[in-house]
Formats: sequence, C-alpha cells, structure tokens
Amino acid sequence: MSPSAVAGLRALKSHLLELQAKGRTHIQFSEETRLTLASLPGRAKTAPARPAAVVAETTPVRPAPATASPPAQHASPGGIVPEGATKTEKLDYLRNLVAHCERSGALESLRDTMVFAVGNPDADLMFVGEAPGADEEAQGEPFVGKAGQLLTKIIQAMGLKREDVYISNIVKYRPAMPDQGYGNRKPTSPEMEACLPYVLAEIDVVQPKAVVALGATAAEGLLGLTESVGRMRAHFHELAGIPVMVTYHPSYLLRNGAISEKRKVWEDMLLVMEKLGIPISEKQQAFFLKK
Ligand code: URA
Repeated sequence: MSPSAVAGLRALKSHLLELQAKGRTHIQFSEETRLTLASLPGRAKTAPARPAAVVAETTPVRPAPATASPPAQHASPGGIVPEGATKTEKLDYLRNLVAHCERSGALESLRDTMVFAVGNPDADLMFVGEAPGADEEAQGEPFVGKAGQLLTKIIQAMGLKREDVYISNIVKYRPAMPDQGYGNRKPTSPEMEACLPYVLAEIDVVQPKAVVALGATAAEGLLGLTESVGRMRAHFHELAGIPVMVTYHPSYLLRNGAISEKRKVWEDMLLVMEKLGIPISEKQQAFFLKK
C-alpha cells in the first residue's frame, strides 16, 4: 500500500476512533466504501469500549482530517458528560470511561492497572508520554519513576511546578510482556490507536496552550509522525490548533546524559516557554551551554 494510502487510512481510523470516543456506535458507509474497507489487508483488532458498527449503506462518511484532531471544542467527551460539567468532572468521567472500558482487541495485550493522568485541569501546558511503567503502575500516577523525576526537574527548571501542568500518556495501561518483572516495552500501534481517543478527549477538555510530546511514540500517537525525534523537535507542530512540541523522552536523557542532548531538550522547552509567555531569565537561557 502506498504511504499516502496508509496515511489516509490512518486518518480515517483516527477519525472513527474519535467518533467512537464521543459515543458514536454506528457509522454509515456507501456500499462502495464498505467493500473497499472490507477488502483491506491486515485489519487490526483495535476494538476499544464500544466497537463501531457499519449499519447502513447510504451516507458517505465525511472526509477524514489530515491529522488526528481532538473532539470539537465544547463537545462533551464521550458524548455523555453533561453539558456544563466542570473540567474536573469531565476528566473524572474520562478516567471512568477508560477504567470501565471493555478489555478487548488491542487492549488485551495491556496490563490491568489503569494509570490515567495527573495535574491541573486548567493547565496551559500538557505533557504526553508513552505509557506507564512499573513505578507508575505501582503508584497509579504517570511519570513518577526515574524518567518522571527527571521530567519534574525539567518542569521546575521552567519555573513551574508539577501541579501547574497536566501530565498524561498515549496509552493508559502498562504494555504487558512475558516475564515482565520491571521490564517495559513500547506500545504497539493498535494499542496506541485504541487509547488515542481518550488522550485526544483530555486535550479537548484541558485546552492547553501548548502540548509537549515526549518521545517518538507520543509524536506518533498524537501527530501520526514516524520520523526521528531529531527531525521532529525544535519547531511546533499543530494538533487541532494547539501547538505541539516534540522533544526527547526523559528516559532518553537518562540513557544518554550528554550535555548536548540535555541542551536540545532545554532549547525545546525554551521555545515552549516563549510560546506560553513565560519569562525566561538569563540563567535559564544559559542552561547546558558549554562555558
Ligand atoms: N514513561 C512514560 O512515557 N510515561 C510514564 O508515565 C512513565 C514513563
């Protein structure tokens, strides 16, 4: 299949998952579209909470967006949250939705303990990582292990507190492995796609002024990009009008502690601070610059 066909299918799938997260259970396709979709090779089993069903053959689906986009602003996430609910209520609703979603398809290959998100529902800045690891699973909070402690230091270096920002992951359960122990693995694409509607709905509720995608997996999940972080970082991408900075995952910095790599992440954070209007001191400007 050509890259553009793959990109188109991915966008279509994202769009369908997005509708599903809003509570849509049925989609109408033309007969021609239905036959084309039915003939596609290797259809992944990604059914999350409520599998969408093809029921009629008359109305064409509206064109898929070029990039994954969160549910429309002010839409109630999942389509069930009462209008007028506070952000906290909406996020609690989403947390419940994930916790009680039917564990089928791609979600079966994830472990059972949900790790949702943490932070300020009114945050201007949202960080999105990959998936919880052993420490996060044990404490039920994202980014609390070694990588999380480094993320907290980065947040503090920006002049913020962990409680000021909103921290989430693309995948809300730790990916399962044989003989897991303390080991972790990268989530698969179907696992990411199954969880994606929830993080998109979180973005829709929080409405941050900027999102930081930590690492290639978060960038792939949010933006559908599969380039190296080196190529994706240092400039803003866009997700439904929200600027997204891709940068290295803190665990990369733990593996490669070179000052040059720390400086790259810091330069990305300086761009984010500038975007958010956070004042930057001379001292902050000079972090990780070789004397
Ligand atoms: N790495 C992640 O991507 N997310 C976490 O929550 C912890 C480590």
